[in-house]
Amino acid sequence: MGRGSRACSVLGSALLLLLVSLGSAAAQKGSTWKTLSGKAPVIIAKGGFSGLFPDSSDLAYQFVPIASSPDTALLCDVRLTKDGAGICLPNIKMDNCTFISDVFPQGKSTYNVNGVSTTGWFSVDFTSTDLQNVTLRQSIFSRPSYFDGSMQIVPVEAVLSVFKAPAVWLNVQHDSFYSQFKLSMRSYILSLSKQYIADYISSPEVNFLTSISGRVSKRTKLVFRFLDERSIEPSTNQTYGSMLKNLTFVKTFASGILVPKNYIWPVTPDNYLLSYTSVAADAHKAGLEIYAADFANDFTISYNYSYDPLAEYLYFIDNDAFSVDGVLTDFPITPSEAVGCFSNLNNSKTDHAKPLVISHNGASGDYPDCTDQAYQKAVDDGADVIDCPVQVTKDGIPICMSSIDLIDVTNVAKSEFASQTTTINDLKAGPGVFTFNLTWDDISKNLKPMISSPMNKYLLFRNPRNKNAGNFMRLSDFLAFAKDKDLSGIMITVENAAFMAEKLGFGVVDAVIKALDDSGYNKQTAQKVMIQSTNSSVLVKFKQETKYDLVYMIEESVRDAAPSSLADIKKFASAVSVNTQSIFPTTNQFLINQTNKLVPTLQSAGLSVYAYVLMNEFTSQPYDFFSDATAQINAYVQSAKVDGIITDFPGTAHRYKLNSCMGKNAPDFMRPAQPGGLISVMDQRAQPPAAAPMPLLTDSDVAEPPLPPVSNTTTASSPSHAALRMKTDVSILVTLLVLCASLLI
Ligand SMILES: *[C@@H]1O[C@H](CO)[C@@H](O)[C@H](O)[C@H]1NC(C)=O
Ligand SMILES: *[C@@H]1O[C@H](CO)[C@@H](O)[C@H](O)[C@H]1NC(C)=O
Ligand SMILES: *[C@@H]1O[C@H](CO)[C@@H](O)[C@H](O)[C@H]1NC(C)=O
Ligand SMILES: *[C@@H]1O[C@H](CO)[C@@H](O)[C@H](O)[C@H]1NC(C)=O
Ligand SMILES: *[C@@H]1O[C@H](CO)[C@@H](O)[C@H](O)[C@H]1NC(C)=O
Ligand SMILES: *[C@@H]1O[C@H](CO)[C@@H](O)[C@H](O)[C@H]1NC(C)=O
Ligand SMILES: *[C@@H]1O[C@H](CO)[C@@H](O)[C@H](O)[C@H]1NC(C)=O
Ligand SMILES: *[C@@H]1O[C@H](CO)[C@@H](O)[C@H](O)[C@H]1NC(C)=O
Ligand SMILES: *[C@@H]1O[C@H](CO)[C@@H](O)[C@H](O)[C@H]1NC(C)=O
Ligand SMILES: *[C@@H]1O[C@H](CO)[C@@H](O)[C@H](O)[C@H]1NC(C)=O
Repeated sequence: MGRGSRACSVLGSALLLLLVSLGSAAAQKGSTWKTLSGKAPVIIAKGGFSGLFPDSSDLAYQFVPIASSPDTALLCDVRLTKDGAGICLPNIKMDNCTFISDVFPQGKSTYNVNGVSTTGWFSVDFTSTDLQNVTLRQSIFSRPSYFDGSMQIVPVEAVLSVFKAPAVWLNVQHDSFYSQFKLSMRSYILSLSKQYIADYISSPEVNFLTSISGRVSKRTKLVFRFLDERSIEPSTNQTYGSMLKNLTFVKTFASGILVPKNYIWPVTPDNYLLSYTSVAADAHKAGLEIYAADFANDFTISYNYSYDPLAEYLYFIDNDAFSVDGVLTDFPITPSEAVGCFSNLNNSKTDHAKPLVISHNGASGDYPDCTDQAYQKAVDDGADVIDCPVQVTKDGIPICMSSIDLIDVTNVAKSEFASQTTTINDLKAGPGVFTFNLTWDDISKNLKPMISSPMNKYLLFRNPRNKNAGNFMRLSDFLAFAKDKDLSGIMITVENAAFMAEKLGFGVVDAVIKALDDSGYNKQTAQKVMIQSTNSSVLVKFKQETKYDLVYMIEESVRDAAPSSLADIKKFASAVSVNTQSIFPTTNQFLINQTNKLVPTLQSAGLSVYAYVLMNEFTSQPYDFFSDATAQINAYVQSAKVDGIITDFPGTAHRYKLNSCMGKNAPDFMRPAQPGGLISVMDQRAQPPAAAPMPLLTDSDVAEPPLPPVSNTTTASSPSHAALRMKTDVSILVTLLVLCASLLI
């Protein structure tokens, strides 16, 4: 065997070394499942862990037991070669899932595939010897290509024996296609079954299944696969849609059906979930098991799931009416979590224990930032703390708004106030329409909120039906709302305080304190008040005047904090917010093998650590978290041990806290990702470049001159160039003075 195979087996043994004894997570659960058998639904890894590694590759198959429930079945899509050997490949055309066009540039053919003339590279044109030098690649091009080109095509027999899988599922499609080449799937499968037992054999062709029915092991479940409802089943000449109404017939040759997931939970063309159909109930009534296909964490899922793939599985296995008997997935870790740790949870439970779930602009993943609906959703979803970033209006009213520039978060650019556009270099490069240029009436009565869209460059937009939903809130409205909710506290974020004092004549610190006093926050609630700022001078001022919990937000990515900076932070804060990159540094979306010291350093100095900002959209997560927001949260909690999570999707973090697999007996798939783990299984030459080391946080990053006094001019015009220049010089001077003073002490 060639070079590829040796590389493969080295990778394979590296992975196998990581294998430890496994206990079945699913088996731990009581038999409360609404499956046909009452047993936990099964998980079927389509082509192995194909969401990450090339489908049907050694690595994809070997990775399944490492990051999934130990009873996960391996699925092989069976294809036949010219010499009648069986191989596993995700597509009938080899073009995209292998590098065959490099090895056999002239190997293209055109054949009739189920009535459709199709051009490409087909396994029927090559012998198994021909294919020895053909390597596999990730056929879904949005997935990482780092594992491509090092692994050979896997024979069906290997899946049945080499990987020691607890169960194997053979999916056999295109029997009638192969018969054109005098190749018989039936003969192949029957001869295979003399030596091996497949646990499941599925096919969308009635004739194929009836022809092997009773001739394979009794342990083998035959599963009839439904394709698109309008396409024609070749043996009966009926559409799959009409066969769905004839399940008693299907029961005569199969013990289960496999359907696209939207047969069970259909979605509208604009991607909203409709009520479930009767398919699952009909199948169970006919005595058929029902398996759902097409699950992947990095495909578009219905907006109803809030970009949370685990939520989707729960709709299929943990609803009041039914549970499917199994799911076919490219990311078996996520259904493993769903089945083993997240079913049957009581979502209304909140104990406000650490880690705290802190909203980021309310539940901004589902509603526009800082609107009443975003806050209501955060509370409903079990946030421990809700947050308000404070800005000020022209008439001096503190409001909650995630950006000082209304263009970012409202429809102001398309309103009569678009003419208020100004450029203020102190605040941002480029023009904006700032909150302090409009009155509260202007904003609340004339502008509409706009949902945030941090992943729009990947064309992932947040719930369009909520695009302009909700109303903005004054700080006083926010406090009145929060006060009687079951929260452990609120977090108020204050930025640009110096600008507000000097240029707007607005003392934001005093205004926040007054609003809190007026709303009775000091005396009448048990809720904690947290004040967060990136500018230490703001926190110093709050420290002088109040007893609030002060949170210092570190804006830059840092690898650790120098002792002198810790001493400084301790003077004014009891907690620190740090960004995700500082905790789990990445290169090209892979975790690098370096666990930052930052969190333990801060915690051993007595500071609580909050991580910001976590999101559900898979494009926001390193590959090591498997496009699964829950796996990411798990790493921040179990491995980084943060004290709180600042998130756009508090529901996902809250549900994480309820999971039934915490603690010592956590199953393997709930162990946090190892930084550097995925990079280490890549071919050396394919590894992404090392990232430049991040800086250390020092006392000079933390120290700031004190807040300037509040000026009494409320009609300040834009500062001139010279004035700006002056300001800079003065602040350098003040910094120097502070430094000299601290040296003298
Ligand atoms: C296969 O690759 C071609 C180009 O190489 C691309 O146009 C096509 O969309 C790919 N097909 C799939 C199913 O990804
Ligand atoms: C595979 O590649 C090797 C080295 O390039 C070559 O010697 C061998 O003939 C190739 N085998 C096939 C079946 O093409
Ligand atoms: C399948 O049905 C269609 C229309 O119902 C008919 O025209 C066609 O001849 C049938 N084909 C076969 C192979 O029975
Ligand atoms: C079910 O399908 C079988 C086989 O095609 C057919 O003979 C039978 O009439 C169908 N029954 C119904 C109710 O459609
Ligand atoms: C999905 O969301 C839409 C819009 O919010 C809602 O109307 C619909 O009822 C939801 N679907 C389900 C099944 O809950
Ligand atoms: C869920 O938790 C809430 C709050 O702790 C409790 O009131 C409720 O009874 C629980 N529901 C179930 C079904 O256990
Ligand atoms: C990460 O690095 C440490 C020390 O440099 C090493 O012991 C460990 O094996 C590495 N882990 C991985 C997954 O590469
Ligand atoms: C922090 O606030 C001070 C005023 O107290 C100001 O001079 C300084 O520029 C601010 N720092 C940053 C990074 O904005
Ligand atoms: C603003 O403050 C300056 C100096 O502190 C003072 O001279 C002036 O009278 C004040 N103006 C108003 C309108 O209060
Ligand atoms: C916005 O407010 C600032 C500060 O008060 C002021 O300098 C600027 O002229 C205002 N811009 C507009 C367009 O009113």
